[in-house]
Amino acid sequence: MPVTIRFLGHSAFHITSGDADLLIDPFITGNPSAETAGIKADDFKPTHILLTHAHGDHLGDAPAIAKRTGAQLIANFEIGEWFTSEHKHENINAGNPGGRVPTDFGSVDFTYAIHSSSLDSVSPAIYMGNPCGLVIKIAGTSIYHAGDTALFSDMKLIGELHKPDIAILPIGDRYTMGPAHASLAADWVGAKAVIPCHYNTWPPIEIDISQFKPKSASVHALKPGESLEV
Ligand code: NI
Ligand code: MN
Repeated sequence: MPVTIRFLGHSAFHITSGDADLLIDPFITGNPSAETAGIKADDFKPTHILLTHAHGDHLGDAPAIAKRTGAQLIANFEIGEWFTSEHKHENINAGNPGGRVPTDFGSVDFTYAIHSSSLDSVSPAIYMGNPCGLVIKIAGTSIYHAGDTALFSDMKLIGELHKPDIAILPIGDRYTMGPAHASLAADWVGAKAVIPCHYNTWPPIEIDISQFKPKSASVHALKPGESLEV
């Protein structure tokens, strides 16, 4: 069964295959890339919502969409607890780095990410567990969404363990890898295809995409709203 990966701007992705309808880091309202592309949070009726960490540019519309649809939330333990206590959302499939959770469509592995994770809509921000990357196994395809992260050498291990077909990597620098480090990440993960994200959403993460030059992987620099089918 084909898998369609649609970029919604920043770090948000919509992955569909058969009955599976996954939203990852659904920051849509207030996301200038999504809004320019005419994408709205109400357009989606996901079966699952996946979060890499709690920062507002990833959490985004997740609470509202979870409430509207009852979609299963897949996130770290602390974010899962918060959805239940704060939003009365009970359909939670939580994990933490190193763990795999089974799902209707396959599975999700939580990987390490070097970053932070907090509720930044309040001051001081509230700690919300470890930031994660996610490896989604769906319809025979392995998709690694690295979340927000620095380059780390265990990306080689992620490549060895999960053999990702597609890697979704942040390249915008400042808060995550920049294009040079992300090029190395793509080589270490070993995916045949990479989709860059978390760049050019706002001036602080504006970069020159031509500097993203993995040696082996093909680069699919999707515009917000565009899809890759695998
Ligand atoms: Ni972040
Ligand atoms: Mn971010």
